[in-house]
Amino acid sequence: MRLGVNIDHIATLRQARLDVYPDLLAAVRECLAAGADGITLHLREDRRHIQDADVALLRQIFPRARLNLEMAAVDSIAKIAGQVRPNSVCLVPENRKELTTEGGLDVRNNLRKITSITRKMQSAGIKVSLFIDPDAAQIKAAKAAGADMIELHTGTFAEFSDQQRPNYNKSRAQKELRKLLSAARLAKSWGLQVNAGHGLTYRNARLLSRYPGLFTEFNIGHNIIARAVFVGIKKAVQEMKALL
Ligand code: PXP
Repeated sequence: MRLGVNIDHIATLRQARLDVYPDLLAAVRECLAAGADGITLHLREDRRHIQDADVALLRQIFPRARLNLEMAAVDSIAKIAGQVRPNSVCLVPENRKELTTEGGLDVRNNLRKITSITRKMQSAGIKVSLFIDPDAAQIKAAKAAGADMIELHTGTFAEFSDQQRPNYNKSRAQKELRKLLSAARLAKSWGLQVNAGHGLTYRNARLLSRYPGLFTEFNIGHNIIARAVFVGIKKAVQEMKALL
């Protein structure tokens, strides 16, 4: 299974001082050398971590790396994506006050806008993924919007399934896992590639990686970067890759 390393929090550290380090490009080089199958980054409208120049430079310096740009379904960011041409974009909901992405995209109630951005991206040769909750109506809407893939929001599952988290609850984790699996099966039956991400850790990613025919890629960031504080980014990526 592929591992997409989300590098947002390397930029978060840099932006905490509006400085030039840690060097994002050097970090990406280490991630790729450690076996990351792709690099994911979120160009938020508030530019709290990743900056426009980061996206452009990454594409330029690593032309063959699989770049996945997370973005809100808005024209201003779609324009940047169209110029930079990542391999894929993942449309996510954005709310300025949130700490991180909260909940999946409501494709069903924003079908026109999401279909329009999806088409624009695809006509620039970019694959489109939609970040959604494991919900049949949203999967159906993702298919209707013409998406190539979905990324299932694993946040709730991740909360309940990590023994170190305060909400750890084995039976609720099992229930959330079943939801993710049936959503993934449904999406696959409709020809959508299924990825997953959000909140995954070294302690729970393996529970999902047991289903290789179902999930193609996991996008994981925060826990890998947190681990890198102790072991370095290369080893942190290698350890996660080994789990998948
Ligand atoms: N996938 C999506 C769509 C996200 O928005 C995020 C967080 O930016 C991730 C994956 C990675 O989540 P985490 O940092 O919790 O591993």
